[in-house]
Order: sequence, then structure tokens, then C-alpha cells
Amino acid sequence: MPAVGIVIGDGNREYPGKLTLYVTMTCIVAAMGGLIFGYDIGISGGVTTMESFQKEFFPSVYEKQKNDHESNKYCKFDSIPLTLFTSSLYLAALCSCVVASYVTRAFGRKLSMLLGGVLFCAGALLNGFATAVWMLIVGRLLLGFGIGFTNQSVPLYLSEMAPYKYRGALNIGFQLSITIGILVASVLNFFFSKIPGGWGWRLSLGGAVVPALIITVGSLILPDTPNSMIERGRFKQAETKLRKIRGVDNVEDEMDDLIAASEASKLVEHPWRNLLQRKYRPHLTMAILIPSFQQLTGINVIMFYAPVLFQTIGFGNDAALMSAVVTGLVNVGATVVSIYGVDKWGRRFLFIEGGLQMLISQVAVAAAIGAKFGVDGNPGVLPKWYAIVVVLFICIYVAAFAWSWGPLGWLVPSEIFPLEIRSAAQSVTVSMNMIFTFIIAQVFLMMLCHMKFGLFIFFAFFVAVMSVFIYVFLPETRGVPIEEMNQVWRSHWYWSRFVDGDENGRVEMGKVH
Ligand code: BGC
Repeated sequence: MPAVGIVIGDGNREYPGKLTLYVTMTCIVAAMGGLIFGYDIGISGGVTTMESFQKEFFPSVYEKQKNDHESNKYCKFDSIPLTLFTSSLYLAALCSCVVASYVTRAFGRKLSMLLGGVLFCAGALLNGFATAVWMLIVGRLLLGFGIGFTNQSVPLYLSEMAPYKYRGALNIGFQLSITIGILVASVLNFFFSKIPGGWGWRLSLGGAVVPALIITVGSLILPDTPNSMIERGRFKQAETKLRKIRGVDNVEDEMDDLIAASEASKLVEHPWRNLLQRKYRPHLTMAILIPSFQQLTGINVIMFYAPVLFQTIGFGNDAALMSAVVTGLVNVGATVVSIYGVDKWGRRFLFIEGGLQMLISQVAVAAAIGAKFGVDGNPGVLPKWYAIVVVLFICIYVAAFAWSWGPLGWLVPSEIFPLEIRSAAQSVTVSMNMIFTFIIAQVFLMMLCHMKFGLFIFFAFFVAVMSVFIYVFLPETRGVPIEEMNQVWRSHWYWSRFVDGDENGRVEMGKVH
């Protein structure tokens, strides 16, 4: 196996570059790709609790809920078709992000964003006008295809565009859009559910065309990233663009590293197979574990089913949707904290602090629900203070997620992959995220029915495991240029045995067969 000997970076470079208005605006527009993902997360839970929607598409759930006043509260909403409605999207997203990896690599990040917007738009229209369950499902598959494309391309786009010192903050714009999408969706659900005649769900589902159009138009006006231009052989254009983005003239060092990375990348014919090489073991491990862990925090139990959950613990319909709005606000606010802190305090600090805070609040929620609902799920009359305490702990939990695993679950993978495996590895990340989102969306209501309040302990266990994992295995990536990232693995006590480097501390890339 001859070494091709392309040398990238010595780990000590500091690329000049300012936080220009141009790069800021570009990143804000691109980050809006997260809106479609967020809007959908926020809309599904609320729509599935609307009576008129249930009556039209899931009459058995409606009947059960109406007639079953005495039954176990934990099992009130345990219905496979209802959860399939929510989770079918994630299977579609899973498939499309694999295709998106080729599009992103061969045609640039922009085209993937455009396709994402168009597919999502089609899905939103089909859902808004749905008259049969099949239309709902096909619509959701289209939405899923859209999300697969945008979640594959947007985080990469942001990490490549951003000056490395502000990469964390600019990348988290994606997560901020997700949380804004969720919040807007919960507020809309609240009002649309009150429309007389019960057709408000059509507006909720059809309203997804708005964020879809935003990213569709956005992708048309956005510039390509210099990395992506170089990857496609447009060197001069890339250099001019890099000057404009960074707001300085001396971009030679960064250009050199980008070109070297691109050359290494060209030698790789099979990025997927390449991922299995020993030197990519740390990257592959993170691409698999970070998104899986992100979902095993249990966040989507709250995001998808907050209204259902709050109804289960005794809030009325309105109060349930309103509480979902409260958690939505906390989610947005805490994401802003993360934008502020990620490049100052670092990724590891946020991961570990957030993990501890989630752990404590999950145990508290389990104890509170366990104390009142016991194992038979019959709480009797719930006092107001009780409901407030539960919502409070859920908010503390959401805040912790929103400044740790939420944004970092997308940021860290997108910044650690070298160019030659970047698109493929990002697809692994998106796929794992979608698989676990699917599993949790699909089995949550069943789990709540069987594990009862123990469900929260189940997720708390995983939060403990993932926090230890981060502490031991994730090196700090704050303030390291992407093209220099190999250094962090080389100096890590465990991962150094997998990655290559010569005695000068330089990193060899692009070994081929
Ligand atoms: C996760 C979603 C989650 C959202 C909540 C995202 O980072 O990928 O699954 O619903 O955060 O804000």
C-alpha cells in the first residue's frame, strides 16, 4: 500500500479570516435549511392529537381515546398507525441521505439543498390536501426525502464556509433553525386546532411549504463553498470566493490546505469503502455514535409527543399544546446560549454539563410521574402544582439538550471528517440519526405503555453512558481548522494509534491501494 505522500497542515496554522457580513449572511440563509426539519418535528405531535385529524384518518385511536376514560393513562395513545404516521418520514430521510451524499460530492452542497427544498415542498402540498391515509404517508415520505438532502448538506456547508474560530457558532445556526421551526409549528398548531370545522390540521401540514420555499430560494442564491469548488476543479473561482468570504487577501495557506485535501480526496474512489480503513476509525466511531446517542437522550419523546405526554399527565387539550409551546421557547433560548458559548467554552464542556443536567432532570421526572401515576397509571385528580413541577423539570431537561447534544450532535460530526470521506461520513451521521429517531418515534408510545415512568430512567441510563463516552473519547475540536483536524486525533491518548502521521507531526493523507 504505497503512501501518496500528500501532506496536509502541520497543525499550527492559523488561517486569517474575519467574521464578514458576507459569511454571516450566507450562513444565516443556509442554516434556514434546518427550518423544514424543525417544522415537521413540531407539527406532527400536535396534529396527531387533533380530534378532527384522528377522526378522519385514525378513527380507531379516536374511539379508543373517547370511550376509554377508565383505562391506564400510560397506554392512552399506544397506536401503531399513529406512530407510523410520525416515523415513516425518518425511513425516507434515511434512504435519501445516501443518494444525497453522491449529489453533495459530485455537484456541490447547493444542489442537495435545492433538491431538499423542492421535495419537502411537494410533500407539504400532498399532506395539506390529503383525503386518504395513503396521501398522508406518500406526503411524509416526500418530506423525509427532502430532510435527508438538507441534513446531509447544510451542516457541511456551514462548517466549510465558517472561519474556523467562529465555526461552532455559525454551524449552530442550523440547530437554531430547527428549534425555531419546532416552536413556530407548536404555536401554529395551537391556533389552527381551534379553527371551527376542524380542518386546521390542513393548514398545519400544508404550512410546511413556507419553510420549504425559504430553503429552495435560499439555495438558489447561496454561493458554493470553496471546498466544494476545489473538489470540482474550479481553483481560481474558489480562491476569489475564499478572499471574499474571509475578508482578507492572504488566503494562500488555507487554499493550499484545501487543494491538498481535495487532491487526497480525488485519489479515493470509494469513499464508502474507505470509511472502513483503520485511519478513519475515530471518524467512523463518531459518525455512528454521536447521532445515535443524540437520539438516545430521549429528546424526541418530548418533541414529538409533548402534547400527548402532557395530556397523559392530566392537562387538557389546550394546556397540553400550550406547554409544548413553553418547552419550544426554552429550546430556542438555550440554543442561543450554545451559540454564545460553543467557541468559548468548547464542545466537551457543553456535552458534559448538558449530560449531567439531563440526567438529573430525567430522574426527577421519573420520580414525579412514578409517585403520582404508580404502575397502574391511575393518578386520580392531579394538583396544579404537580403539573407545574413536571413541566419545570422537562424544561430544565430541554434546556440542557438544547445547549449540548442538540447542536453538537450536528456540529461535531460535520467538522471532524476529512474532505475525502466528508460526504459519505456525513451520510452515516444523518442515517444513524434517522434510524434512531425512527425507532424512538415508533416505539415510544409502546414503551410508555409498558415501561411506564421507568421510560425516563431508561433514557437517563443512556445519558450517563454517553457522557462518560465523551469524557474519555472525544477530543476538543474548538478552534481547530477543519483541514487540520487530524492533529486532534494524533494527540489523543486512544485514537492516536489509528491515525497516521510522520515524526514532524505532519499528517499524511490519501493512501491508496
Ligand atoms: C435533533 C432532533 C430534535 C431536535 C430538537 C435536533 O438536533 O436531531 O431529533 O428533535 O434537535 O430541538
